Amino acid sequence: MKAITALDLQKMKAGNKKIVMVTAYDYTMARLVDSAGVDMVLVGDSLGMVIQGHDDTLSVTMDDMVYHGKCVSRALKRAHLTVDMPFMSYQVSVSQALENAGRLVKSAGAQSVKLEGGARTVPMISAIVQAGIPVVGHLGLTPQSLHAIGGFRVQGRTEPDRNELIDDALRIQDAGAFALVLEMIPADLAAAISEQLSIPTIGIGAGIACDGQVLVCNDLLGMDQSFTPRFLKRYASFESEAIRAIGTYAEDVREGRFPGPENSFGQKTRSPKVARLY
Ligand code: KIV
Repeated sequence: MKAITALDLQKMKAGNKKIVMVTAYDYTMARLVDSAGVDMVLVGDSLGMVIQGHDDTLSVTMDDMVYHGKCVSRALKRAHLTVDMPFMSYQVSVSQALENAGRLVKSAGAQSVKLEGGARTVPMISAIVQAGIPVVGHLGLTPQSLHAIGGFRVQGRTEPDRNELIDDALRIQDAGAFALVLEMIPADLAAAISEQLSIPTIGIGAGIACDGQVLVCNDLLGMDQSFTPRFLKRYASFESEAIRAIGTYAEDVREGRFPGPENSFGQKTRSPKVARLY
């Protein structure tokens, strides 16, 4: 089956079909999310927090994004691959943005790139789109501007902020972005933006009216049960299941129950051919 394109995703809005996006950062998770039939996979710079254990996304580098993008792109057969442009990889100049967007396509296998911010990103978005690289915008809570916006909090709650977000969304669309992520804004504002735009909106903490939804895969699988933001719905309890399974393995090793004869090799038996050793 051919991979989903930016054009296919735009047609989904026209056809009233919700877009399903999740993050993935490695080959194994990407294989699972692709098999589950999601439409878009985002190698988000959230990997700085989820994978690297930082408090924010600011230290993530282009090399990090290329490395994780490569791992994910090897697994995808159907889903569209978007890779985040990390902090300070596009803010300096249009030529810096173009060069780095090109690197994510050429080296990381991205089909599109995502960058955060409003009106100030318009020249970068236009240049990247003109170079033939589809762009996803990102408005609302933009974690790369953490220090400027004063923390991870809901955006667009005052009248001037609402108007600015609507204006930014229209400008990003005019600059040529094919989709727009809306993070942590009031549901009625996300509904108004989704109504005014012809490109799809993809929400996280932005209510039901968005044209699609995105969640961090590790969060929806319940890999960190201490993380309980209001916008998150957990669909599994991987943290407790993993701790239980690994604990059982540890007990088996300590009690001499593992490996059993069925996991061991005899001198005369021929080793079965295995597709994967580890
Ligand atoms: O980095 C990320 O994972 C994101 C999503 C939460 C939209 O930008």
